[in-house]
Amino acid sequence: MFAVNMEEAKKELKIPDKINIFDTTLRDGEQAPGVALTVDEKIRVAQKLDELGVDTIEVGYPAVSKGEMESAKTIGDLGLNARISSLARVLERDIDAIIDCDLDYAHLFIGTSPLHRDYKLKKSKTEIINQAVEAVEYAKDHGLTVEFSAEDATRTEMNYLIEFYKAIENAGTDVINVPDTVGILTPVTARHMIRTLRKKINIPLSLHFHNDFGLAVANSIIGVEEGASQVHCTINGIGERAGNTCLEELVVSLKIAYGANLNVDTTKLFNTSNFIGSITNIKLPPQKPIVGENVFTHESGIHVDGILKHSATYEPIPPELVGHQRRIALGKHTGRASIKSKLDSFNLDVTEKQFEHIYDQVKTIGDKGICITDEDLKSIVITELSTTDKEYIKLLGLNVMTGESVSATATVKVSIEGEILETSQIGVGPIDASIRAIKSLVKETVDITLDEYRLEAITGGTDALAETFVLVSDDAGHRATGRATREDVILSSVVAVINSINKLLNIKENS
Ligand code: KIV
Ligand code: ZN
Repeated sequence: MFAVNMEEAKKELKIPDKINIFDTTLRDGEQAPGVALTVDEKIRVAQKLDELGVDTIEVGYPAVSKGEMESAKTIGDLGLNARISSLARVLERDIDAIIDCDLDYAHLFIGTSPLHRDYKLKKSKTEIINQAVEAVEYAKDHGLTVEFSAEDATRTEMNYLIEFYKAIENAGTDVINVPDTVGILTPVTARHMIRTLRKKINIPLSLHFHNDFGLAVANSIIGVEEGASQVHCTINGIGERAGNTCLEELVVSLKIAYGANLNVDTTKLFNTSNFIGSITNIKLPPQKPIVGENVFTHESGIHVDGILKHSATYEPIPPELVGHQRRIALGKHTGRASIKSKLDSFNLDVTEKQFEHIYDQVKTIGDKGICITDEDLKSIVITELSTTDKEYIKLLGLNVMTGESVSATATVKVSIEGEILETSQIGVGPIDASIRAIKSLVKETVDITLDEYRLEAITGGTDALAETFVLVSDDAGHRATGRATREDVILSSVVAVINSINKLLNIKENS
C-alpha cells in the first residue's frame, strides 16, 4: 500500500531489472571513528552479510595490514555466495595484495577532483588517467574483475570525469563506481550527474554516496531511477564521518516502494543491524528508520486504536517484513484500547473498577514522562488484583525529609474508617521513618510486625518504576502480603504496607 500515484510515476524511470547491493560495512563502515574489528569479527560479519543476501562484500583493504590480508583471504576461502571484493590504490603492490589473498574482484580508486589532483596527489589530469589505465590493465592481465572509483567524482569537472571514465572503460574496467566522497550531492545534482554518465558509459554504473547532508539514501535511489545497477551501502549506514548509504533504508525503499528486484532478505535486516550495532559498539537512535527500537512502537491512544483495528493504518510496512516487532508502549498518550489489548495479551482479567484504577495509574505515571514497559504494567495490574475491596485505611498524604547528618523524618496522613490521623516519626532512612509512622497510626486498630520487605526496580534506569512487596503479621498470627508499584520508592513502600494492613484487616474480619 504505497503512494497512490507510484505506478504512474515509475513509468518515467529507468530502474534496472536487477539492483546489486555492494556492501562495504567491512571497509568504509570500518573506517567509522572508533570501529576496528578483529579478523575473527570480520569473518563473522561477512557470514552475516552473506546470509542477508548482499551481492558483493567489500572485505577491506589488504595492502594496509597483515590483519586485513588475513581476514580478506580467510573470508575469500569461506566459499560464501557473495562476491568478495577488496580495495586497492592504483599501485601494483596494492593489486598484488588482492591477488595474494586469492581474490578475484578488485575495487580500484584514485582521486580525480581538482582538490585531490592538486593537493593530495600533485598530478596532472593526464598523469591520473594514465596511472588508472595502467592499473586496470595490470589487474585485468591478472584475471581480476575490476570496479573503478573516481574518488571525489562529484567535485570533478564533468568533462574530465567522462574522459577519465571512458579511458578506464576502454582499458577493460567491468564496473564504474561514482563516489560522492564528501556527501555533497543533492537529489537534483545526483539525477543530473547519473543521467549524464549513463548516456556516456556502456558498462554497469555503481553508486557510492556519503551521508554528510543526510541525503545518501535519497541520492542513491535517484541514481537507481536513472539506471545505476549497483549501490554501495553499509549496515546501519556506518562509515567515514556521517557514514554511507544505509543498506536497510535503501533496500526497503527500493524493494517495497519501487518493487525493484534485489537479493537481500529483508526479514533478516533487524537482526543484522543489531549484530553490527553490537560488534561495532555504535548504538542506533531509537527512531532510526526500519531498524530503530521505536519504529514499530505505538503509544498514542488514537494510533493504537487504529493499529488494533488494522495495522496498516499507522504502519507503512508490517514489522515482520524486516524481522522487527510491533510494540504498544504505554505513556501519557495511552488510551483505554492499548491497556485492554495488553491485558488480553497477558491473559489478565480485571473488573471495570480495577481497570479504571490501572488506567489512572498509567496516566499519572505517564504524565511524569515515564514510559511504562510491559513488566511495569503487569506489576501495576498484579498490585491492583491483590488490593482488597474494603479499604479500612487510606493514604491521604506523605511528606519525607532526609539528608546527610539529620534524621530522616516522615509525616504520614491517613484516614482509618473515616477518621483522619496524622503523625511524624523519625527513622534510619525515609522508608523506615514512613513505615514507623504508619505503624504508629494504625496501632489502635492493629499492631503489625513487618516480617518481610522487598523493593525492586522493574526495569533499569533512574526513572524505573519501583515495586515493593511486604509481608505483615499481627499478634494473633494473621499474615497478609501487600504490594505496590509506583515511580517513587518511598511511595511504593508506603502504599504496599497500607495494602497489606488492609488485607490483614479483611482477613481478621472474615476469620
Ligand atoms: O568515499 C570514497 O570516495 C571511497 C572510495 C575509496 C571509493 O570510499
Ligand atoms: Zn567512501
